[in-house]
Amino acid sequence: MTKPATIHLKDYAPTPFTITEVNLTFELAEDVTVVTSELSFKRQTDATDQVRLNGEALVLKSVFLDGAVLSKSNYTLTDKDLTFIAPSDEFKATIVTEIKPQENTALEGLYKSSGNFCTQCEAEGFRKITYYLDRPDVMARFTTSIIGDGMEYPVMLSNGNLVSDTKLEDGRVKKVWEDPHPKPAYLFALVAGKLACVEDEFVTASGRKVALQIFIELGNEDKCDHAMTSLKKSMKWDEEKYGREYDLDVFMIVAVGDFNMGAMENKGLNIFNSKYVLASSQTATDTDFDGIESVIAHEYFHNWTGNRITCRDWFQLTLKEGLTVFRDQQFSADMNSAAVKRIDDVQRLRAAQFPEDAGPLAHPIQPQSYVEINNFYTATVYEKGAEIIRMMHTLAGPEGFRKGMDIYFDRHDGQAVTTEEFVSAIEAGSGLDLKQFRNWYIQPGTPEIAVEDAYNETSSTYELTFTQKNVKAGEGADPLHIPVAMGLLDEDGNSLLDDDLLHLTKAKQTFTFENIPSKPIPSLFRKFSAPIKITRNPADEKLGLLFRNDSDEFNRWEAGQQLALQGLLADVELYASGQALTGLSNDYTEAFGEILDDQNMDPAFKAEVLTLPSESYIGQQMKIVDVDAIHTVRKVALKSLGKRFETQLKSIYADLKSHNSMGARALKNLCLSYLVASSDDYLPLASEQYFSSENMTDRMASLARLVNSETDHRAEALQNFYDNWKEDQLVLDKWFMLQATSSRSSTMDDVKGLLAHPDFTMLNPNRVRSLIAAFAGANPIHFHNENGGGYQFLADRIIELNSTNPQIAARLVAPLGQWRRHNETRQGLMQAELRRILETENISNDVYEMANKSLSN
Ligand code: TRP
Ligand code: ZN
Repeated sequence: MTKPATIHLKDYAPTPFTITEVNLTFELAEDVTVVTSELSFKRQTDATDQVRLNGEALVLKSVFLDGAVLSKSNYTLTDKDLTFIAPSDEFKATIVTEIKPQENTALEGLYKSSGNFCTQCEAEGFRKITYYLDRPDVMARFTTSIIGDGMEYPVMLSNGNLVSDTKLEDGRVKKVWEDPHPKPAYLFALVAGKLACVEDEFVTASGRKVALQIFIELGNEDKCDHAMTSLKKSMKWDEEKYGREYDLDVFMIVAVGDFNMGAMENKGLNIFNSKYVLASSQTATDTDFDGIESVIAHEYFHNWTGNRITCRDWFQLTLKEGLTVFRDQQFSADMNSAAVKRIDDVQRLRAAQFPEDAGPLAHPIQPQSYVEINNFYTATVYEKGAEIIRMMHTLAGPEGFRKGMDIYFDRHDGQAVTTEEFVSAIEAGSGLDLKQFRNWYIQPGTPEIAVEDAYNETSSTYELTFTQKNVKAGEGADPLHIPVAMGLLDEDGNSLLDDDLLHLTKAKQTFTFENIPSKPIPSLFRKFSAPIKITRNPADEKLGLLFRNDSDEFNRWEAGQQLALQGLLADVELYASGQALTGLSNDYTEAFGEILDDQNMDPAFKAEVLTLPSESYIGQQMKIVDVDAIHTVRKVALKSLGKRFETQLKSIYADLKSHNSMGARALKNLCLSYLVASSDDYLPLASEQYFSSENMTDRMASLARLVNSETDHRAEALQNFYDNWKEDQLVLDKWFMLQATSSRSSTMDDVKGLLAHPDFTMLNPNRVRSLIAAFAGANPIHFHNENGGGYQFLADRIIELNSTNPQIAARLVAPLGQWRRHNETRQGLMQAELRRILETENISNDVYEMANKSLSN
């Protein structure tokens, strides 16, 4: 194959011509869709007279310039673009193309989901609809006419406000939508088909009424309450927290079953993966409910951070994504327990972003180059991007940050900008100098921080010395500006110092604290004030004290995790060398018991605190991951905690049974998991909970215990689950996912069997994620089976998906890219599969980039 081209940030240049107005007409039909596009061009630079429009997989029917037909000899057409000479500095082009949405399995551009038309244009999908300057710095006003059979497509939506709805002479219906806000093409959306609508209203702070509409497949009308409530909360919160009002008369959300990602912030017409809209207590878990609240908020918040102010180019992706993730995290923290939210966010960062940043696909939040931009919608751009905004918030303080945001909106409303312009606005609002801080945008890798301390009794002074290093950033990389939120505790766990903020700016730096009466225990990086790893912490010997007493809830949880890790990692070594395990330390176990009995602790927080680190997080602490030892050691630890605290766990379980709150369910189900780990004698209890549960949270939690077992309880419950829920696609995904993540020995064969299940399809991304991504990403012992079967299975699926949905295929490559972290046998097997993937005929840019980088970087 010819190697695909690499795009570089340094090559950015504005387009010679821009587009100011777009008039689109879609004639929808089941066989072919005709798109007529009238574009108003205007010269911006005099670099060239050529106009080069992006276009892919289109059938070009005609081109007119200022009303005159452009003959074939006057334009150049390739499979990627359409080029012609501009007739003047301002002119109109009319372009007619044909597309076949019903054949579009890549789910990018205009496609069909459950018989309904919908679009996904970010990042570069608009070029699969018509020829266009498909890049975010070209912002135009869009008018969209949709023509089609009114019986087939009773609902026809596009961005903005509906301005006319007429019946044509031929009987077809025509609806015209006008979006007054100039926008890049990636925010364009169209939806048409048979959909039900749930309606509500929001009155903005200035008293304008906004119609809120959620469109869903018929029959789902009763599953929109939570999404609607979340939307209204988001609208109110953005007004209160950031002074941002909504700016159209209608805000629409459409839920579709086939969607590559979570959701999309198209102007006034968000399109969602139905997973992030539909929920009832019968079909969705508490985690699903939280996911809906945060994704609805995320897409809504994009209206200001993303749409009103957008990205100059795709290298600036974190400008809108990092910032919007930060905003949705703040929102969820305000709506729920802030400590639990912070713990969840950090766990997600550590689970997905840390490995990415340590592996061959590491990139700064602002990458310098890419082959396929779809591959850069990553945990780094999103989650680490949000951490970098959060650090600016910490450094500026809430008021300084808000001032900076106000300046950002004032300066750049209606523009396509760079991250540099964002940071400048925060500097202007806060008075901070963020020159050094900007390094966070250009350095990949997770910084490692080693800390030493010294206490001087005679002078009552205490010194903390920090050393920062970032191997991925390369030799001679500048040190980062790192905010260290911290406190000090005395030997009895009382606070000596709270809420201090250190600015770590040097490679090695010492901070001195005066008037410290006795040798303190430091509590560092409170609330996880920076996305770093601590490699040496003077508090390591006193984790039990912090676990019991730290006033910062995040660090209290963190101390427990680190203390548990110490025991687990020691056991992993013992196990590997064939020695008897010593188990978790008494320090950990005793604190565990005390916390279990603490009557005053929020049960949701307690459930977090008493959960052992995951297998993958334990693995991250090792140079070479010992998959099997980790699994066994963790299982033994769960079992011993379950046995030791059996009485308390049983009584808490019984007490919480009748409590109807998320926190109570979380803690109750954690108790169940410890009990089942302690002995198979508790499987009947799990089964009983399964059959008596009145909500999906309890049902899933109990089924998750049963699927690892070999008993009849397993088969019975799985069959029951399937029989009850087979019509509900989102619930059925859970059924596939639970089987894919089971620890029992036959799982690989079970998963292969499920590929042939009549309800399995490779065309639906949620289904692919629930079976294949879940197996590869959340079932370490089976995916990494040393017979190589797991790797081969994954590679086969990637090769299969390459031809139907490259975006989803590419997203499955990452687990194989972790080969350097495994033993030689596994390394060889994983590399061989990556090579086999690279030999795929007609390999997409998406898959090529991921597999190639995984092997060579
Ligand atoms: N902008 C979307 C979001 O973060 C992400 C997104 C949705 C996306 N669909 C996509 C990105 C398809 C790439 C391709 O909210
Ligand atoms: Zn987003």
